[in-house]
Amino acid sequence: MTALSTATAFAPGPTITDRLQDMGCRPLDEAQRPGWLARLRAPFGRPGEKAPAAAVAAPIASLLRSLPTGGWSIPRDTAHALTVLVMEAAPIRILELGSGVSTVLLAALCAESGRPTRVVSLEERPRYAERTQRLLVTFGLDGYASVLTAPVRLTRFGNWRGYSYEPNETLLRRALGGRAVDFLFVDGPASWGRGRGDCRFSALPLVWPWAAARLTFAIDDAWRRRDFNILKRWQQLPGVTVDGIIPVGRGLGIGTLTASAGANGR
Ligand SMILES: C[S@@+](CC[C@H](N)C(=O)[O-])C[C@H]1O[C@@H](n2cnc3c(N)ncnc32)[C@H](O)[C@@H]1O
Repeated sequence: MTALSTATAFAPGPTITDRLQDMGCRPLDEAQRPGWLARLRAPFGRPGEKAPAAAVAAPIASLLRSLPTGGWSIPRDTAHALTVLVMEAAPIRILELGSGVSTVLLAALCAESGRPTRVVSLEERPRYAERTQRLLVTFGLDGYASVLTAPVRLTRFGNWRGYSYEPNETLLRRALGGRAVDFLFVDGPASWGRGRGDCRFSALPLVWPWAAARLTFAIDDAWRRRDFNILKRWQQLPGVTVDGIIPVGRGLGIGTLTASAGANGR
């Protein structure tokens, strides 16, 4: 498959808030947390839940059908919801934590945006970074993404102590091309079964110094207890608004970070 060619002007239209409503986003206090293992087994489009309704450009729709979603990768309905969000947010720099199939999707959205948009993905394990890079090449999208290997280490952010990616700052700055991050997708580090507890909490403190004045974030697995609790704690941070959880896949938590202390992309 070659690069997705025809740049599609993303239609101005409903705001992200409208879109979130369309996608059945529920605030945290209403977003009951079903057992996430049950969610894992659930087929796409369960009765009573709205699949994301928005139309997406034909090349993206076709990519969504052909990407090997599911398993360790984002589920297909999550990929669809993420697509809609990225189209609405129209970011210039996407930072992804945890690379894979989602990196290909985000790179395709960059290619389709008609703007100089890029995705930078942090990946803990060299073998997965290589696999993602191969996938990007296969889909002809390697020109829109940088995959950086970054170890996951015990770190302290303020009072919080836990595991976080530790990217090489010079490489990250170079990959971002001097632009601030305005969209963050959190799907790593792998926490399940590795004693890493609430490691994904570190995503916002990590991005803080690199963030634009307004950043939209999406976090996968938001119905998993530890990630649900992370969203609750993020809500307490200054400048953070958690919109809620879109009922797709294992739950896609959504929010914004504004007036970040960094707010300059370094
Ligand atoms: C949830 S996965 C990220 C998935 C990625 N966002 C996607 O959509 O394909 C989080 C991390 O788990 C690790 N990982 C990926 N596949 C794995 C596998 N089959 N077994 C164990 N760890 C895996 C990688 O380090 C990855 O960054």
